[in-house]
Amino acid sequence: MKIDVLTLFPGMFLGPLDESIIKRARESGRLDLKIHNLREYAHDRHRTVDDRPFGGGPGMLLKPEPIFEAVEDLGREMTRVILLSPSGRTFNHAIASELAQFEHLLLVSGHYEGFDERVRDQLADDELSIGDYVLTNGALPVMVVVDAVTRLLPGVLGDDESANEESFSHGLLEYPQYTRPADFRGMKVPEVLLSGNHAEIARWRGEQARLRTQERRPDLL
Ligand SMILES: C[S@@+](CC[C@H](N)C(=O)[O-])C[C@H]1O[C@@H](n2cnc3c(N)ncnc32)[C@H](O)[C@@H]1O
Repeated sequence: MKIDVLTLFPGMFLGPLDESIIKRARESGRLDLKIHNLREYAHDRHRTVDDRPFGGGPGMLLKPEPIFEAVEDLGREMTRVILLSPSGRTFNHAIASELAQFEHLLLVSGHYEGFDERVRDQLADDELSIGDYVLTNGALPVMVVVDAVTRLLPGVLGDDESANEESFSHGLLEYPQYTRPADFRGMKVPEVLLSGNHAEIARWRGEQARLRTQERRPDLL
């Protein structure tokens, strides 16, 4: 998968996407990730990307020209252009799986008060929020989306099964898990997990996942 990111803060991306699983996905070519500075698409002396909103009001808005030019430069016919914005649909596992099917994502990160509405109307195929709160810019939301989508790409996780058994993958939260020692300071691992009876273990895990979901996230059921 190819992901292009448009941002005013390319420096924020140094580090988080250069470690561990995402690093390996990039090195193996499963993820081709490029970060682009929006200012490269502004042509005046000061590389201006923002201006005051018509009608007044606080703050500045991202101007349409640099974003249109960048999307025209980086986009292809099958590109999915996605704005990060608190007004978008709330990002979740189902949306991550949906995005993992596309060949090319172009993620557009905002700043200041956000985007001129014509960017929404004319350029965006989708608009995503990572939750009901407001961050200073879209770099962290972009990283959240890149991480969640990349780990669903074939071959990215060492054991492909591990993405299938996790929270949300079947509409439930994950069941409780334990590792050695079986008895830690008197806190014992449930007997069934030590039994070697795989059918019983699967039944217990299913039941625990349902109980935990009922208790913590009944909205998922
Ligand atoms: C300060 S916010 C703009 C908020 C905007 N004025 C509003 O009220 O919705 C600046 C940028 O940060 C990003 N951003 C902030 N919170 C976000 C969230 N919860 N999800 C996705 N992007 C977010 C967006 O790209 C947004 O354009």
